Amino acid sequence: MALLLLLIIATTCADARSKKERWHYSSRHKGILTAPSKADDPLMDATLVEQQMKSRGLYEQQIRPDPTTGVPHVVWTFWFGKPMVGKRLESFRMIQENIGVPVMLVTETNLPLCNLSHFPIHSAFPYLSGLHKSDYLRSYFMHFFGGGYHDIKPETHSWADKFNELHDSNVWLYGVAETKGGVACDEGFCVKELCTTTPASWCSQNNCCRTLTNDEYAKLVVNCEWIMRPRTEMTRIWIEAVKNDLDQQIDNLKAHPAPFPRCCQHGENNYPLAWAQLQGQKFHPLQYKFLKHIKQGLLPWEKGGEYFGENEYVAENVSRSM
Ligand SMILES: *[C@@H]1O[C@H](CO)[C@@H](O)[C@H](O)[C@H]1NC(C)=O
Ligand SMILES: *[C@@H]1O[C@H](CO)[C@@H](O)[C@H](O)[C@H]1NC(C)=O
Repeated sequence: MALLLLLIIATTCADARSKKERWHYSSRHKGILTAPSKADDPLMDATLVEQQMKSRGLYEQQIRPDPTTGVPHVVWTFWFGKPMVGKRLESFRMIQENIGVPVMLVTETNLPLCNLSHFPIHSAFPYLSGLHKSDYLRSYFMHFFGGGYHDIKPETHSWADKFNELHDSNVWLYGVAETKGGVACDEGFCVKELCTTTPASWCSQNNCCRTLTNDEYAKLVVNCEWIMRPRTEMTRIWIEAVKNDLDQQIDNLKAHPAPFPRCCQHGENNYPLAWAQLQGQKFHPLQYKFLKHIKQGLLPWEKGGEYFGENEYVAENVSRSM
């Protein structure tokens, strides 16, 4: 009986939430109800994530959004490759000791627990470089779960009170102010996302990336650490763009998989993906598209800090490492 009551309450709350979301959309679009309903938009359905992660015992501590911010109080890290050693392991310990928020380390071993049935981890995943596995998962985890993300680099600051910045539901992404030279961009994606609806003057000059990189970078946040709200329009476009790239390249990736984890900046094995293709090239143009939802204020990880483990450069020779 009590259980039944709970179920009824849960259903009612979920319905109320989805109505509010629809209203939010419809008011923004001047009365036109354009938001897909929950039923035909599983990607935006929080309850699908909740059900699956609860059944795996991973919901309460890791995924449940903080009721005041809508963002879970965790920092995700990813590691794919040889075991962390030396500076890399020290960096990980530094994050754990200093960041003041539970740190989750996702690896090949525990990843299957986070594989959602309504959006399975892409079948191209095994063929990606370690770096691209992590990049792929950033879009996946940020869209479905949200929370903090940190590269495994030395961190001295606490983020314990930084999650409060997301009390404002308009803040989708809170991060470290970008610096000159930090922006990655792909002209095709930039033009598609920024120049089709309300083109700026620079759109007509094929200057999308140049503008972001040289003129507008200071409004953006860096790639390597942030706190993010799940299931926003931004994460949705990001995860679908990444999926689309992998759909297109699946055959090439099978024929030319990454030969070692920190591949491939020099065309090794004809690996088909560019270094920043899944992360920076998508992330920076999308930030610009949703600029009013981006907030700066996190402090950067320890600049000049060493973070490479001695085993990470081993096997940069394709024939040796295969
Ligand atoms: C995720 O799930 C899909 C579908 O069940 C499966 O094909 C895939 O191998 C899984 N990937 C990982 C990394 O667990
Ligand atoms: C990789 O190893 C092979 C075989 O030992 C050698 O012929 C080749 O020159 C090496 N390539 C590089 C880039 O070091």
